[in-house]
Amino acid sequence: MKKQTILTADRPTGKLHLGHYVGSLKQRVMLQNKEEYDNFFIMIADIQALTDNYGTPKKIRDNILEVMLDYLSIGLDPQNVTFFIQSQIDALSDLTTYYMNLVTLSRLLRNPTVKSEIKQRGFDNEKKGIPVGFANYPISQAADITAFKATIVPVGDDQLPMLEQTREIVKSFNSTYNTDVLLTPEALIPENKICSRLPGLDGNAKMSKSLNNCIYLSDDYETLKQKVYNMYTDPNHIKVSDPGQIEGNMVFTYLDVFCQDEHFSKYLNEYQNLDELKKHYQQGGLGDMKIKKFLLNILDELLSPMREKRNYYEQHLDEVLNILKEGSLYANQVANNTLQEVKNAMGLDYFNNSDFLKEQQKKYQSQN
Ligand code: TRP
Repeated sequence: MKKQTILTADRPTGKLHLGHYVGSLKQRVMLQNKEEYDNFFIMIADIQALTDNYGTPKKIRDNILEVMLDYLSIGLDPQNVTFFIQSQIDALSDLTTYYMNLVTLSRLLRNPTVKSEIKQRGFDNEKKGIPVGFANYPISQAADITAFKATIVPVGDDQLPMLEQTREIVKSFNSTYNTDVLLTPEALIPENKICSRLPGLDGNAKMSKSLNNCIYLSDDYETLKQKVYNMYTDPNHIKVSDPGQIEGNMVFTYLDVFCQDEHFSKYLNEYQNLDELKKHYQQGGLGDMKIKKFLLNILDELLSPMREKRNYYEQHLDEVLNILKEGSLYANQVANNTLQEVKNAMGLDYFNNSDFLKEQQKKYQSQN
């Protein structure tokens, strides 16, 4: 059976948080050990991050190693994964240029993710306007995916339109140039609904840096504690004896995601499982502080080994940078190879295909 290639990426715009962890990072840690994958690439998408942060390149620069530290802290292993930086792979821009001919402007602007980002970033306001590079990023993302011949792309569901766009480009390229060099990728989406979008501490639908409602993987114990203690619960649950609501209560939402039965024997042995805890809370007689302390223990058990690993790498940044350098070297080989195949398929192989000269000579021979 043909082995699969996995590729995924993150924009280096900030530290990674628990939402990223349950939504994708945890899955990557599991995937990295599977035998059926030939190649596993994780890319730091700095070119893409610049498409809507072009005025603040320092922010992107400062988050390259930050994101890489997060990767290493959760146990992603350079033995299993090739880590690289998008801007260091020149072939990606070349591929983007060639693919641009295969996509219409209206098709790009119809992309629902792009559409909502245009609104969010105020690009729809007449003064600002939509930067061409921004509108074009789904094509650049198709270049990322196809350059590495990725067949599996683990992403959140907001990225499905990008995968669809990529498949269209693959189909169009292969049929236009009568080739099969490009492979058709499939998205790999987290099955669990709540995991694909972990709500924020404040109950907002999404954990997001701009909403300031995140737990970062790199938060220290005190910060974590403050954040958990301030989580949004049930505003009508005032006295311990009051019956409490589970729905929309972030502590229970997080417990649904992170709590396992074994946590009860370790941290809260009056209960056997989450159902019992919920029932007691709904009946009244269970205070918020108790459930928050329980959640704090569970989250700290998850985060403290990450903090430890991170600590090591923070003190060995030269190693961290070198992982990216080595990875980018390998990624360049793979992407350059694909670029060559793409150019050959398009007939842009003037110097390395002897048929070119012969074809052209024929034109002039017949004239004599
Ligand atoms: N668009 C993705 C995000 O915002 C990042 C990304 C860039 C990506 N290139 C990719 C994801 C290629 C998967 C494959 O999260």
